[in-house]
Parts: sequence; C-alpha cells; structure tokens
Amino acid sequence: MTKLSNEFDFTDALKKGAFWMPFTANRRVKQRPDYRIMASAKGTYYQTVEGKQLFDTLSGLWCTPLGHGNPRIAEALKTQAETLDFSPAFQLANPVTLRLAERIANMAPDGMNHVFFGNSGSEAVDTALKIALGFHRLRKEGGRFRMIGRERGYHGVGFGGMSVGGIVPNRKMFAAGMMNGVDHLRHTWDPSVMAFSKGQPEWGAERADDLERLVGLHDASTIAAVIVEPVQGSTGVLVPPVGYLQRLREICTKYGILLIFDEVITGFGRMGHGFAAQRFGVKPDMITFAKAVTNGIVPMGGVIVTDEIYNTFMTGPENAIEFAHGYTYSGHPLAAAVGHVVLDIMEEENLFSKVLALEPVLEEAIHTLDEIDSVSDVRNIGLTAAVDLKPSAEGVGVRGLEIFERGLEAGLLLRCTGDTISFGPPFISTPEQLRDMVGVVRELVIATA
Ligand SMILES: Cc1ncc(COP(=O)(O)O)c(C=O)c1O
Repeated sequence: MTKLSNEFDFTDALKKGAFWMPFTANRRVKQRPDYRIMASAKGTYYQTVEGKQLFDTLSGLWCTPLGHGNPRIAEALKTQAETLDFSPAFQLANPVTLRLAERIANMAPDGMNHVFFGNSGSEAVDTALKIALGFHRLRKEGGRFRMIGRERGYHGVGFGGMSVGGIVPNRKMFAAGMMNGVDHLRHTWDPSVMAFSKGQPEWGAERADDLERLVGLHDASTIAAVIVEPVQGSTGVLVPPVGYLQRLREICTKYGILLIFDEVITGFGRMGHGFAAQRFGVKPDMITFAKAVTNGIVPMGGVIVTDEIYNTFMTGPENAIEFAHGYTYSGHPLAAAVGHVVLDIMEEENLFSKVLALEPVLEEAIHTLDEIDSVSDVRNIGLTAAVDLKPSAEGVGVRGLEIFERGLEAGLLLRCTGDTISFGPPFISTPEQLRDMVGVVRELVIATA
C-alpha cells in the first residue's frame, strides 16, 4: 500500500529510522505508521501515500496560511532559480531581497525600517538576542546582559531561544547548556479567572508587573531585553490579557530595556494585521518573524528593528563589519522571490480582512466545545484557537496523542501538545471547513473522554 515504486517501501524506511523525526515520539510512529507519510498537498488538504485526505488544521506548523500547491509560488520559484539561484549576502545584495526587506519594513509599525534575514524562527530569535547585546554594548551599557523570557514561551531551539523559552520538556534535557543570566516572567494564563475566554481575557494586565519584580531583583542596569510572543502559540494559544502588552511596553521603556515581540506565528496576518504589534497597538523594539513570510515553502526568518537600533550599529570605522553575525543563506533569493508572491497574494486577496471575518466563525464554532465535561478550557484570538482536555487516568498527554492519531483516521491533521489541541487553519479556509473541523474534533473529544 505504501510502496509508490518497486524500489522504495516508505513504511519500511520509516521503521528503519534513518529519518530521525524532530519533536516526535519516533518509536510510537514506527508502531503506528498509518497516514504518517505525506505524498502531496493542495489547498487546505494533505494527501497521504495511502490516499487519505487530511484537513490542515494548523497550516502545516503555523506556516502555510495560503494553503498548498499555489501555482504562482511555484512559478516564482522556477523563474528565480533560473535568474539568480543564490548570491552571498556577505558584502553583496540582490534585487529580490532588497525589495522584500523594504516591503516587510513597510508592513511593520512606523520607525521599524531595517530587516536582518535568517532562515528560521530559531535563528531570528538568536539574532534578536545578539542585536540586543550589541546595542547596549555600543551604547556603553555592556553591563546589560540579562534576557527575560516568559514561562510557557517558545522561541525555537537554539541555545538562546531555548534559554529564554519556558516550556519545561524543551529545557530540562539541556539544562546544562542554558545561557547565563536569563530569567522569566510568569505566564498570563489563570483558568480560575479566564477559562473559556473569547478573545483577550479581561483579567491579567497586572501580570506584567512581574517585570518590576525582576528589575527589583537584578537591577535594570543588568537587563538587556524582554522577549515575549504577543500570543503564546506553541504552548497552546495563551492570549494576552487586555492591557498586558501595553504595561510591559511601559515598564521596558521606563528602564531602557528592549522589548522583542516574537511574531514567528503571529506575524503576516494570523491576527488579522501585518503583525500582532498592530493588532494590540503596542510597538516593540524588535519583531522576529519566519514561517508565513514565505508560506513555509522556502525557509526564511528575520528580525525587524527600529531605526534607533540600526543607527546605533552604524557607527565606528566605515570599513569595519558592524555586526559580526549572519548566515550563508541570509536573504536567500529563492526565499525572497517566494516572499514577494506571498505578500502579493495577501494584498490582492485581502487576506488580513478575511482573517478578521473568519475569527468570529472560528470563535463561535470552537466555543461549542465549552460545555463538554472533559474539556477544561477553550481560547481563541485571530485565526487561532486552543482546547485543553482533562488528562486521562493514564497520564498527561496520552489523551492528546490519542486524539491526534484518531484525527488522522478521521481526516484531520491536528496539532496536539500534551492534552492541548491548537488550531491555526489556513486563511483560505471556508467557514464551512472551520465548522466541519470543529465538528469532527467534538466527536473525537467525546469519544476519548
Ligand atoms: C514564536 C516562535 N518563535 C520561534 C520559533 C522557532 O521557529 P523555527 O522552528 O522556524 O526555528 C517558533 C516555532 O514554532 C515559534 O512559534
């Protein structure tokens, strides 16, 4: 069944394990290999090698909001590969990357006019942390070395991102390799006062005052930056309480601490705006992005910085490298070419407005799960949502995994972390698809209770 050619048995290859799957229970996949091997994808669906159609409930890994198989993107890739397939970004530039940097900067809040490219969210985060250190050092405040992350935050898997991140299983194995001088704000989720909130919870702005506590503990003169996801995505869509991000901004400004918004998930329309910064009306000093900028098709990530930060680096001898950092594939022309088509499509098809129109559809549908006994919380904002399940007697995460596997059989590619199901459907989804998705999830949740 899973042999597409005589030479290669995919299931057998999966079982042999030459491909060590990331963030995966590899041995469990080998025991249950059905519907794990994707053969193709079109629009909002994947097709497995068995021919099973799976609705893409998380836009890949939050990265393919335009859906799959868009011919304009394929064409742009081909044309760019034939025109300029690679050019180094050290000491050189190319037309598509130059233009894309300007387009991204134009989408960002005013006064954020400079983009440093990498290839992933993890690289974007590590780049931002290094920019923060360099910025303070150049301003003769090199004593500011501490980074403040947040509990339950996800900032990728580099040593920097892992250290400021706050998801315990991602940290404990590597505890010996944590960056020095990192501390964490408390997260904002408190089900006793905000369970089943629609959009932003009313309670919780005061959780930002936790930064005052850390300033009191470490002294502001040692703190370089605070990094937060405006909406915490990977931990299961924790929505910022009303006023929380504003308060964080005020405290950072008061103490000269840089504020970094990690918008790897929220950037490029997921919140119905270019960036969550605009949705929540808060301007950070840096924005990290990745994923949707190229619709996940060619890896690309980056950091958008304020003029003040950029200009601080543009000092010293003119023949010297100002920032000793960058990647072989920074600003890769193939990624940049795809980025242009993605932004064209987002503009032409008014996709940010479409997200805002779909938001109440998803909200209404997902909150029909509120009354199910085995559901402990449901949250949503923009085109994202999450459902927390009460763990089964067999332990935390067992039910989530079961729902994920049953989802494959039922035609849904779900994202379950622990006992939380997260949703980030493609912007091109129809209201019916969203309602159907939730309808199937409802059955799965009831069946596994
Ligand atoms: C907020 C955030 N930052 C960073 C990352 C890491 O991105 P990548 O997997 O591209 O390294 C992710 C990935 O999900 C993310 O959600």
